[in-house]
Amino acid sequence: MEANRPPEIVWDEKAQRFETEDKEAFLQYQINDILILLAAPGEDGEQEKAKKLPAVAMDMVHTYVPRSKRGLGLAARLCDAAFAHAQRHSMLVVPTCSYISETYLPRNPAWNSLLYNGELHSSM
Ligand code: COA
Repeated sequence: MEANRPPEIVWDEKAQRFETEDKEAFLQYQINDILILLAAPGEDGEQEKAKKLPAVAMDMVHTYVPRSKRGLGLAARLCDAAFAHAQRHSMLVVPTCSYISETYLPRNPAWNSLLYNGELHSSM
């Protein structure tokens, strides 16, 4: 039924948010230019080299769901949309929001491959 359909998640590019159509629940992010260290194999048995490459990180700073709608997986749906967006646009993710780092990611570990943690990223 229409009244029971799960709320649609929409992207507001200008506000840097993923949100419900009524804008009451949202995931706020910031886009940052970063440099990542990339491990590249050395030629002819040379030692592995590291080079710096520019990249873009999506810092997911805050997730909010109104009290009356909590515990129904709405925050997880906002995160699903935001992580899929980061993947589509080849961005890394900084999980600043504690809901994302402590609850969403342990339940959705496939997204760990997108995380930027300042460590060496392999080109292999
Ligand atoms: N940090 C980590 N995990 C949290 C959390 C937080 N601050 N708040 C709630 N959770 C956990 C709950 O314990 C719950 O676990 P359970 O499934 O084992 O019961 C789970 O998140 C619920 O997941 P989900 O239904 O997807 O989340 P939600 O739609 O209820 O929304 C928040 C979760 C955090 C967005 C919501 O509680 C909220 O807006 N809180 C106030 C703002 C806030 O603290 N935001 C997070 C820091 S940026």
